[in-house]
Formats: sequence, structure tokens, C-alpha cells
Amino acid sequence: MTAEPAVLAVSGLTVTYPRGFGRPPLTAVADVSFTVGRGETVSIVGESGSGKTTIGSAILGLQPAAKGEILLHGVDIAGMSRRQRSAFRETLQAVFQDPFSSLDPSKSIGDAVGEPLRVAAPKLGSEAVRRRAAEALTRVGLDPAVMRRFPAEFSGGQRQRIAIARALILKPAIVVCDEAVSALDVSVQAQVLNLLEELQREEGVSYIFISHNMAAVRHISDRIVVLYRGRVMEDGSAEAVCDRPAHPYTRSLLASVPLPDVRAQRERRRVRALTIAPARNAATPSTGCPFAPRCPFAADICVAAPPPLIETGDGRRVACVRIADIPPADDLASLELSGGDGR
Ligand SMILES: Nc1ncnc2c1ncn2[C@@H]1O[C@H](COP(=O)(O)OP(=O)(O)OP(=O)(O)O)[C@@H](O)[C@H]1O
Ligand SMILES: [Mg+2]
Repeated sequence: MTAEPAVLAVSGLTVTYPRGFGRPPLTAVADVSFTVGRGETVSIVGESGSGKTTIGSAILGLQPAAKGEILLHGVDIAGMSRRQRSAFRETLQAVFQDPFSSLDPSKSIGDAVGEPLRVAAPKLGSEAVRRRAAEALTRVGLDPAVMRRFPAEFSGGQRQRIAIARALILKPAIVVCDEAVSALDVSVQAQVLNLLEELQREEGVSYIFISHNMAAVRHISDRIVVLYRGRVMEDGSAEAVCDRPAHPYTRSLLASVPLPDVRAQRERRRVRALTIAPARNAATPSTGCPFAPRCPFAADICVAAPPPLIETGDGRRVACVRIADIPPADDLASLELSGGDGR
């Protein structure tokens, strides 16, 4: 069986930001590689400042790549000019956190949703654009009558549906969703996540789902890429990464997700205390693993060189040279915590 080629293949992506005053540029994303298949959702997770949005920006061409490839259906778009990129507008779209700022308040909903189509197909008549905008709004569960209204008249969840309709009107192959549900109430979040999944089933669209909300990520992802200080620490199936996190950083990230059950929460805090040392030193070692200063399993070897991503046999890759020596999370759960308050 020949595997279907990836819709998107990011390889060795490095993105830097200038810092000025003779200081070296900040490397926000370093040597990141992952692929997204057709109809697949790949999430990028990590704490604030880990480089999630920067990866999305590089894919969308909003931020140049310093190194690496971004293959969209096999074509490298990383070094393309804005003009060359416009040919891929129909393939690649985005939904951002705040649909209020991404929707022009002075434009009607019909104009906002129809705009990408008008730009991509300038010869299409306005009646055809209106019809397609109405279809797109119906697909996201809104009455096409909303076309004459303005963004301020809608709730956050409705505005996000409008932003999704706008992103999907060109029938893109892949949509970058950067914190697309993070600003919504929990119940509305679930509705929008279900909508994204439904549209994926119907249209085969792929998503890059950028989020710090692990509960949402667990719900929607096929695969998860865990980022720390711009580097991939672990990637694998959503189930493997969420239920059996391997890298000490992934364990710490998951341990910070609140659980509804108080006992389960207390138990996990205990595990967290056993797996994660507090930040002993905020500085990142310039040579080795960026997580080493916070890692209770760190040894000299960890600060010698950046850890390569090691295949662990279950379709997962882990950037930890000591992974074979670290007890699985399940075993840690049964250990007794000596001292401390379990935080
Ligand atoms: N335009 C910019 N200019 C300079 N530095 C930037 C810029 N945007 C981001 N950075 C820096 O790059 C790093 C990665 O930022 P990024 O916004 O990608 O993180 P993030 O994972 O999306 O965080 P968050 O969860 O807070 O959205 C951070 O150190 C940030 O300060
Ligand atoms: Mg961000």
C-alpha cells in the first residue's frame, strides 16, 4: 500500500526574530519537523512562548523561515514571496483566536465571508459569491439571513463560526487554527470543536490545531506535537501523548490540566511533583536540551548537545537521550512521595 502524500510536510523549520542593538536574533522555532495527512488534525501544544504561533505564522507566510522546508502538496512554499504564495490561497487558510479582530467591523457578514472568494476568483459574479457565502454559512450552522448583519451583533461563538465559514469558502486542503476556541466559553468551545470535526469528516480538510488547552487538544487531535522553547520534545498519536506521555516535559504539561475529580487531581499533582523539578534556572542551556534545567532526570549528557528525536517504536518520537532510563508515568503514579506538599 502506498501512503497518500502529506498535505503539509514541515522539515527542519527554524524561525528567528531580530532583537536589535547588536544582539543576536531570538530563535523562536528550532529545527521543527512534522507532517499533516489529508483529513488529519495535528495539534501543536506547549506553554506560552514555546513558538506555536510562530510555526503557524511561518506556514501561513506571515513570518519568514530562517531555515527549513514547508512542503504544501510537495511544493516548498517556505522561501516564496507574498506574490508567489497567493497561488496557494485556496489551499491554505487560517482561523485565529479573536474573530472580532479578524472580522472587519464595518463589513457585513456576507462581504466578510465572500471576500476570499472574490479575491481568488475576481471574475465570479456577485450573485455567485453571495450564493457560495450563504452555503458556507449554512455549513457552519448559521442562517444565511445573517449575511446583511455586522460582526458586533454576534456572540463570540457565532463570530468564530463566521470566521470558519470564511476560512472554508475556498475549500482549502488545510486550515491553521491558532487558539481558535480558546476565547470561548467551555460549552461553546465544545460546539465549535464538534463543528470543526464535522466539517473535516464531510470535506476531508486537514487542521493544524494550535492550542494550550490540552482538553480541547485531546478531543480533536489525531496526532500531537509537543513544543518547548521552540523545539519538538515529543510527537505521536493523541492517545499515546495524552494517556502515556513519555517526555518529562509532556508529563508536566498534562499534569497542569485541571481534572474535574478532586482525588484524581490530587493524585496527579503527586505524580507531577515526582516528575517535574521546579525551574532551577530560567536560563536555557545554549547547547543541550532546553528542558534540562527543569528536568529531574537531567544528567551531564543532557546539556552536551540538543537531543535528537528518538523513535520509541509506538509511532512516537521523543527528544530525550535518557528516555530509556525514565520510569513510565504509570509506575511513577504508584511511588510514594516523600515530603513536600505534592504541588
Ligand atoms: N513579532 C515578534 N517579534 C519578536 N519576538 C517575537 C515575536 N512574536 C513572538 N516572539 C517571541 O517568540 C517566542 C515564541 O512566541 P509565540 O508567539 O510563537 O509563542 P506561542 O507558543 O504562540 O505562545 P502563546 O501560547 O502565548 O500564544 C516568544 O519568545 C516570543 O516572545
Ligand atoms: Mg500563540
